[in-house]
Amino acid sequence: MVNQQRKDRTMPQQTLVPLPIAPATTSPVPHLTSIHANPKRGPYGSNRYRGNCGGYLIRDLIQYYKPKHVLDPMRGSGTCQDVCRELHITCTSMDIKEGDDAADPHCYTGFGKVDFVWMHPPYWSMIRYNEDPDCLSNAPTLEDFLGRMDAVFHNCRSVLTPNGKIAVLIGGFSIRGRYQPLAQLVMTRAIEQGLWPATTEIIRFQHGNTSSRRSYNRSFIPGVHDTCMIFEEG
Ligand SMILES: C[S@@+](CC[C@H](N)C(=O)[O-])C[C@H]1O[C@@H](n2cnc3c(N)ncnc32)[C@H](O)[C@@H]1O
Repeated sequence: MVNQQRKDRTMPQQTLVPLPIAPATTSPVPHLTSIHANPKRGPYGSNRYRGNCGGYLIRDLIQYYKPKHVLDPMRGSGTCQDVCRELHITCTSMDIKEGDDAADPHCYTGFGKVDFVWMHPPYWSMIRYNEDPDCLSNAPTLEDFLGRMDAVFHNCRSVLTPNGKIAVLIGGFSIRGRYQPLAQLVMTRAIEQGLWPATTEIIRFQHGNTSSRRSYNRSFIPGVHDTCMIFEEG
């Protein structure tokens, strides 16, 4: 694992940090732990799509839970779909950019039940994806964003098999100096809806972030991870 620092800082340019040793288990994916630190994104989706994620965490989760039918309600560049294609698993996906609003229950008809949902929503307004008022990145307030996330969860649960899982990848960010703890808020709302974490949250190191290449003339603690939470019926 390599922590890259800028050359002009007092920190060493590269600091090698060992990952904690995980206990031996019977997991079919032994390297899948509460830290996901793969610096590569893999041949899935597109790194040119703003807000894309790599495919390896999705692949690890699918190989762990072994679903037969995956739903990605916010497909973006199609990273999850590409992983499923490689693993020969059926994947249904949608995106507001193609006119499908994941908060609208009518978008969940005609494809049957799914046993795994990969949900990678906008981190609220951190990246504006389009001008569509139904896009979660255009939610006017935090409460509105969380309310729409409630609706997406509700809709996903309506097509989820009893033992199915919903994985959500999201991270926090600041607006004018005020931190927006989106992972914690989404976790709270999901539990209030009757879902429960199926396992530990997974901290995903964000390699290759656009903001990592920027310089800021103010002091703050940079966030360099996002959080994957996996839910099941409580
Ligand atoms: C973080 S990106 C997903 C990136 C994707 N995982 C990838 O690797 O390319 C979030 C996506 O959610 C979509 N989106 C936002 N609001 C939506 C909604 N109401 N219904 C469906 N998709 C939505 C955006 O258009 C965007 O493509």
